[in-house]
Amino acid sequence: MKCTRCGGVAVIQMRQHRLQLCEQDFIEWFTAMTRRTVDEFRMFTVTDPVLVAVSGGKDSLGLWDVLLRLGYEAEGVYIHLGIDEGLAYSDRSLEMCRAFVAQHQPQARLHVVDLGQQYGQTIPQLARTKTRGRGKACALCGLVKRHIMNRVARERGVAAIATGHNLDDEVAVLMQNTLHWQTGYLARQAPVLEEQDGLARKVKPLVRFYERETAAYTLIRGIDYIYDECPFARGSTTNRYKEVLNELERHSPGTKQQFYLQFLRARESGRIAFGEAERVRLQPCRRCGQPTTAGDLCAFCRLWE
Ligand code: AMP
Ligand code: FES
Ligand code: ZN
Repeated sequence: MKCTRCGGVAVIQMRQHRLQLCEQDFIEWFTAMTRRTVDEFRMFTVTDPVLVAVSGGKDSLGLWDVLLRLGYEAEGVYIHLGIDEGLAYSDRSLEMCRAFVAQHQPQARLHVVDLGQQYGQTIPQLARTKTRGRGKACALCGLVKRHIMNRVARERGVAAIATGHNLDDEVAVLMQNTLHWQTGYLARQAPVLEEQDGLARKVKPLVRFYERETAAYTLIRGIDYIYDECPFARGSTTNRYKEVLNELERHSPGTKQQFYLQFLRARESGRIAFGEAERVRLQPCRRCGQPTTAGDLCAFCRLWE
């Protein structure tokens, strides 16, 4: 397999782009594509400080690396959720983030928030006490992560929170929301979520990449990351949608990309429109001051009641 650009040995084939590239050309392509996405969606500029939410996985560490290489002012935040389940999952993820920081001196700075130490309970403990062992760990965890990321972003005064969501993540959620006609979620599913009433701006610079491309980037760049997925995510609905979409992609390369990017274009051009009814109204939580739709106390504060 020959590199489309230089004729050297290609290491990755991207059928949806009709492109196969060698290591060096792939890194250049990935970097330029990230830059293009950041500019096209007006995510941030080189003078805007950005907070990269890093999980220790391939996407978020790859994202942090490419942003630093592009000269962005990107600091990291890792939320230690206390997930062990015999795998020391959170501890090992933190180690990956720390190794990344050591490898990226002097630019990379990491903030660590330890849920168990700073708030008194870990995700598994919360899941046991709050959901009576019915396992909703992932939903709880999403809520906790969003709250803490927003708090840190506001404290640090950054222009945006950047997450490592890739196209596979986004398209799986799009499919799920479409199958259930979750119009409120569809209205808000976007590469950029503007700041609103104390909710920090959120951006996803990797939305144009398939998962295997972010994995390839991170591997080729020599960044060690945690291969396991969270033990609570096994068999999740999102993973099932990903499998179905990959099956479709195998038969028609570009299906995933089309589904997602055409959705964004249709909404952008007004061919799909969502009304006022889908707008969320936010007000500050009485205890923590963070925005909530839930009235008096936000869902995060209610967790600790
Ligand atoms: P997930 O919700 O696990 O699919 O992760 C989506 C994105 O959220 C990742 O790409 C990261 O940017 C961010 N993220 C996930 N877990 C953590 C964590 N423990 N600490 C900080 N950011 C995280
Ligand atoms: Fe939060 Fe799995 S990462 S439950
Ligand atoms: Zn609150």
